[in-house]
Amino acid sequence: MSFSSDSAQIVARNVRLSLGKPPSRVDILHGIDLTVAAGDSVALLGASGSGKSSLMAVLAGLERPTSGEVHVAGLDFTALDEDALAVARRGRIGIVLQAFHLLPTMTALENVAVPLELAGEAAAFSRARAELANVGLADRTSHYPAQLSGGEQQRVAIARAMVGNPRLLFADEPTGNLDTATGAAIMDMLFARHAASGATLFVITHDPALAARCARIVELADGRIVTDSRAA
Ligand SMILES: Nc1ncnc2c1ncn2[C@@H]1O[C@H](COP(=O)(O)OP(=O)(O)O)[C@@H](O)[C@H]1O
Ligand SMILES: [Mg+2]
Repeated sequence: MSFSSDSAQIVARNVRLSLGKPPSRVDILHGIDLTVAAGDSVALLGASGSGKSSLMAVLAGLERPTSGEVHVAGLDFTALDEDALAVARRGRIGIVLQAFHLLPTMTALENVAVPLELAGEAAAFSRARAELANVGLADRTSHYPAQLSGGEQQRVAIARAMVGNPRLLFADEPTGNLDTATGAAIMDMLFARHAASGATLFVITHDPALAARCARIVELADGRIVTDSRAA
């Protein structure tokens, strides 16, 4: 099936990824073909080591494929250099990782404002404040990451990912470091943000119940897509 360029948010064609230098070079992705429609929600499942994080890194413009093409929002990522990719990600792509990756010397508010400040946005702090309120952390803006619970840190990371109003939201096992109840609350929040913004959601998970909340489930094994199904 093909999509017109405006409805396809992500197009990957025959993407291969090998990392490391010989003799320890590892072939990680073996020819991935994937098209994701704008506004869709996609769960990426697969055993540990199957290449999920690597595929996300390639689709999010964090890693260059060894060969093949990646087009995101009509931009040919494979044709851009590192600097151009960084600019292309800004305002288009939000990323939430398992380990939060907040800057420890910055408050919650500063962490969320960083992407906007980098983009030269004058209203960075007021927008960051509003985004923290959206994730229920209006009263934690001047806390440092070490003063926040894991669930609160992940909410800060979601606010940081959403503050640039990206059309594409990636999350790599966002509940992997959280207890079950906190993880469920974080997933509710991610789906709520997806629904409110209409942004495409691409979430890596080990949890079939969580994957079932997405409209589409893609499964990787050994760097290849082995199933691709859509909720009835
Ligand atoms: N920088 C790297 N150099 C060499 N091999 C890597 C590198 N990053 C990941 N790998 C290997 O690629 C495979 C896929 O890793 P990853 O994408 O993290 O899988 P997953 O997220 O599904 O657990 C693993 O075998 C991993 O060891
Ligand atoms: Mg991973």
